[in-house]
Amino acid sequence: MCIAAFVWLSHPLYALILLQNRDEYHDRPTKPVGWWEESEILGGRDEVAGGTWLACSRGGRVAFLTSVLELHTLPEARSRGDLPVLFLEGTKSPKEFAEELVKEAHQYNGFNLIVADLHSNTMMYISNRPKGDAVTVQEVSPGIHVLSNAKLDSPWHKAKRLQQNFEELLRKCRNDELPVKEMVEKLMRDTVKADKSTLPRICSADWELNLSSIYVEVDTPLGRYGTRSTALLTVKANGEVSFYEKYLEEGMWKEKDVKYYMKQLKSSVVSP
Ligand SMILES: *[C@@H]1O[C@H](CO)[C@@H](O)[C@H](O)[C@H]1NC(C)=O
Repeated sequence: MCIAAFVWLSHPLYALILLQNRDEYHDRPTKPVGWWEESEILGGRDEVAGGTWLACSRGGRVAFLTSVLELHTLPEARSRGDLPVLFLEGTKSPKEFAEELVKEAHQYNGFNLIVADLHSNTMMYISNRPKGDAVTVQEVSPGIHVLSNAKLDSPWHKAKRLQQNFEELLRKCRNDELPVKEMVEKLMRDTVKADKSTLPRICSADWELNLSSIYVEVDTPLGRYGTRSTALLTVKANGEVSFYEKYLEEGMWKEKDVKYYMKQLKSSVVSP
């Protein structure tokens, strides 16, 4: 399922601060954050379909994804994890990419996709749900946003809770260094579930209750499912990127932290 909370263009030090939990079956083969061999992409990688839920590029792009909670999904649909990769590897602006995706959006199961370019400081939100509605294409405004498994900023229990806690933490450390440990361990490992009466009632109440906390852990007939990765991605105005991930590997929690500078677009122009 996944949940992401982010601050876009409204922090004195950071262009982007993004926290994201990835929920998946624990035994689904996955690579933790790292540079991809054949491209200039940094992120975790789903080894089954080859895509990702969150990644950024050397050139200054960021893309992340959550799925939309729905009762029926199509096994033959195209893999949603390809969407961030298509954006990161391409040269289209977020707006152009979003507008082109509209034509193909029906080929995927329900998704919420955010694509951003840190040079032009534009961020777009695209979603192909609810089914039957026109595809949503929306420029993301500066400020704090939360993306769970419904439309951007839908007031689901876990989204509201994460937004409140995130805002409070940012108020406390306005110009200081971000308390990475506190953000990852406290904000993203929160297991408080929703009140039953507030569940969206799309799937069974028992399943929805199990998914209603920020940090998810469920035993299912198909094996253990839940949060197996927490990422904190920050981009400063000067292009300095820090990608921290705490992830589960063979039953053990491990950490990785990768830092780099996004390329300056102007200096990459080669004179003839
Ligand atoms: C909800 O979680 C509990 C505890 O992990 C589990 O026993 C139960 O089967 C789960 N229900 C569903 C529908 O996943």
